[in-house]
Amino acid sequence: MSFTIAGTGSYLPQKVVTNDDLATFLDTSDEWISTRTGIRSRHVAVAETVTEMAVAAARAALADSGSAPEQLDLILCATLAGEYITPSLSCMVQKELGACCPAFDLNAACSGFLYALDVAAGYFARGRVKKVLVVCAEAMTRLMDWTDRSTCVLFGDGAAAVVLEPGEDLLAIRLSATGNSDALHIPHVSGNCPYSGYDRGPVSLVMNGQEVYKFAVAAMSQGVEKAAAEAGIALEDIALVIPHQANMRILEAARKKLRMPAEKIASNIGQCGNTSAASLPILLDQLNRQGRLNKGDLLALTAFGGGLTTGACILRWARERKKAEEPAF
Ligand code: ACO
Repeated sequence: MSFTIAGTGSYLPQKVVTNDDLATFLDTSDEWISTRTGIRSRHVAVAETVTEMAVAAARAALADSGSAPEQLDLILCATLAGEYITPSLSCMVQKELGACCPAFDLNAACSGFLYALDVAAGYFARGRVKKVLVVCAEAMTRLMDWTDRSTCVLFGDGAAAVVLEPGEDLLAIRLSATGNSDALHIPHVSGNCPYSGYDRGPVSLVMNGQEVYKFAVAAMSQGVEKAAAEAGIALEDIALVIPHQANMRILEAARKKLRMPAEKIASNIGQCGNTSAASLPILLDQLNRQGRLNKGDLLALTAFGGGLTTGACILRWARERKKAEEPAF
């Protein structure tokens, strides 16, 4: 027993910041950002809290699945940082929804959605749950050094959620972790303990872009290959690859390694940038609402992120294709 996806939802902040907007205060250009990354704009949480984004996405997923918060048996949030170290983001989501079930967060950076799906699958396998809410929400723009043009242009904010119910639609899932803080890290808060001589520095993302790039291309393509082999399907059987949205050039390089046609690789990076854990489920929700997912489609989800972590899975889409609610990208 694993699960089936019964509903999806997402939330993107109202404020859209274009590359040209960034060029007004950074030594950068639309030409550099769009040709190196594929990103043209991103959503930035100005008024929204991480909790508010998470709750909006959760409500949309609950509505899509026809579920009520009281029916939830578990809330799992994947995030780098909610509003608080404690309470967890999932506890805040539980409170706002009025749910009554266990709730906890996990952090696997951009691979968080896939880690959360695997944890949820374990709960279903043990027969402990009938309805699980997985929420991924990130305010990446609050974790950036906005004087560092090599990182702050890459990220955006947003949230997405899925409602899971008992089913057999997770055909294979693979996760990995290779501890490495040199490639990418975000320091934790330092506090002001008078006995600590330890200052971690500002809470902002530090990244070796080229090291992450090389890791990402191999991780994204090998993840799909290995998950497909584990599921006993050929790459040609995959209807759509839904990859973590970090850089269009990473997606293109991974696509070439997989020898797949461009139309089988889904992307919204032009409009969203990298929203870390929220990236995959935002794209999944948009594809669902654009009527691009057909009943029986085999989907390959693949991600890499800070940690360094990776995740990949093969999911069968079991719902009828939606009448398009949103225009295609
Ligand atoms: N605008 C203009 N110039 C820039 C910018 C910018 N925004 N950023 C960097 N440059 C300059 C650099 O200063 C450098 O100039 P120099 O040659 O004079 O020194 C030049 O552009 C080339 O810099 P590189 O870092 O070599 O550029 P690269 O082609 O590697 O692209 C990038 C950088 C886009 C970051 C790429 O390496 C990448 O996408 N890496 C993967 C990052 C990623 O996927 N991270 C996801 C993990 S996130 C998570 O897990 C939370």
